[in-house]
Amino acid sequence: MKILCIHGPNLNMLGKRSKTHYGELTLDQIYESLIDTFEEVEFTFYQSNHEGEILDLIHASIDEDYDGLLINPGALCHQSIALRDALEILTIPKVEVHLSNINEREDFRKINYIKDVCQACFMGKKIESYHEAVQFFLHK
Ligand code: DQA
Repeated sequence: MKILCIHGPNLNMLGKRSKTHYGELTLDQIYESLIDTFEEVEFTFYQSNHEGEILDLIHASIDEDYDGLLINPGALCHQSIALRDALEILTIPKVEVHLSNINEREDFRKINYIKDVCQACFMGKKIESYHEAVQFFLHK
């Protein structure tokens, strides 16, 4: 199984961001945890702070042979209809992940433009949210 894993703005700063919301792990440690936990999965990891780059990545992935997209969009899910529209074009299963519970924080984080174009959303359990997302793909 091949899973494309995209991270949006500021997620390269994990480890320096709020540990209460996001935990202790850096993004590289999250990648390592996924690789170590799911040996049967081939992950391709990308992170970008630039919305356009993320849209380009999603567009390019349409012609590749990924079995699923795992995306932690960071704040883009609260503000980007363009991200929503790009995800809508991609027909493989898509799962949204958040380290924190975006529904139990500030009101502006309750706005989520991408939730209805993803098959599932796992949030609020830090690294465990990622593990649940990959399990979702494996059991599909
Ligand atoms: C986040 C939640 C977003 O609201 C925030 O902007 C992030 C991280 C999370 O993983 O909990 O950058 O996506």
